[in-house]
Amino acid sequence: MPPRKIIIDTDPGQDDAVAILLALASPEELEVLAITAVAGNVPLDKTSRNARVICELAGKPDVPVHEGCDRPMERVLVTAEHVHGASGLDGIELPEPTMPVADLHAVEAIIHHVRREPRGSVTLCPLGPLTNVATALTRAPDIAERLAGIALMGGAYFEVGNVTPAAEFNIYVDPEAADIVMKSGVDITILPLDVTHKALITRDWLDRIEALGTPVSKVVCAWLDFYERFDVEKYGGAGGPLHDPCVIAWLLRPELFSGRRINVEIECQSDLTRGMTVADWWGVTDRAANALFIGDIDADGFFDLLAERVARL
Ligand code: BDR
Ligand code: CA
Repeated sequence: MPPRKIIIDTDPGQDDAVAILLALASPEELEVLAITAVAGNVPLDKTSRNARVICELAGKPDVPVHEGCDRPMERVLVTAEHVHGASGLDGIELPEPTMPVADLHAVEAIIHHVRREPRGSVTLCPLGPLTNVATALTRAPDIAERLAGIALMGGAYFEVGNVTPAAEFNIYVDPEAADIVMKSGVDITILPLDVTHKALITRDWLDRIEALGTPVSKVVCAWLDFYERFDVEKYGGAGGPLHDPCVIAWLLRPELFSGRRINVEIECQSDLTRGMTVADWWGVTDRAANALFIGDIDADGFFDLLAERVARL
């Protein structure tokens, strides 16, 4: 089978970074057409820089990195330096990237690739707020039926929220964009906190990565040591959740995950519950299913896959 064509829309972020490395380490299964940066964890200039740092670290400076929207569709940008550090990629000093930013705006790049590639061959992988993706769907509605699907990290049902009591960060930052995506008719898979909070980084796994002794493994350990400190303090327990790599792992090994095809709507009105993913997990409404909502993961299998792929870089 030829590799699946993907576009990674992202706001790196250490967990975004590991997701990108996982995809770039898997060329037999995944062809990364482009990386599109969006404002989220940190402002756009930093997410663009970080995406290019990650490509160069992986030895893939030819993957085009496009800069996209610098703020949500209708709201003021909310960022997460308290989790990811001032740079978004705190944990280790890395050289400034030398690869250029690609010419097209990220929204135009998404539209371009989806229109140019065969119908049903491109999957979008949003790992941050959905601003770029929703803007592309609004500007070029024809791409909805051309997409193979959208596999995104965002939302929660049983875990409810991480940035407010009701909402997960990526959806909270741009709920109007999430609403557009959920209503797009595209085949959507959601990797919510319900599953990523079962993908907890452990000391043993970090030791295993460190033992690889490669430049990339050293960087991954430094990033994740920094990144998980916030969540370990917040939630207690063993380790921080490794959110965004779940999206790429789902593409590579869907058998590691399970979920339900359900209706998911986004709360855009209420100040109290802004960005809540109202997920009909129990089928208590007659609203039509619009997403595969993942609920469970084989965490050992997930971390084995990640270690195996990090070792390739
Ligand atoms: C999501 O928010 C970001 O901080 C992470 O990169 C992840 O995409 C988790 O809520
Ligand atoms: Ca992210």
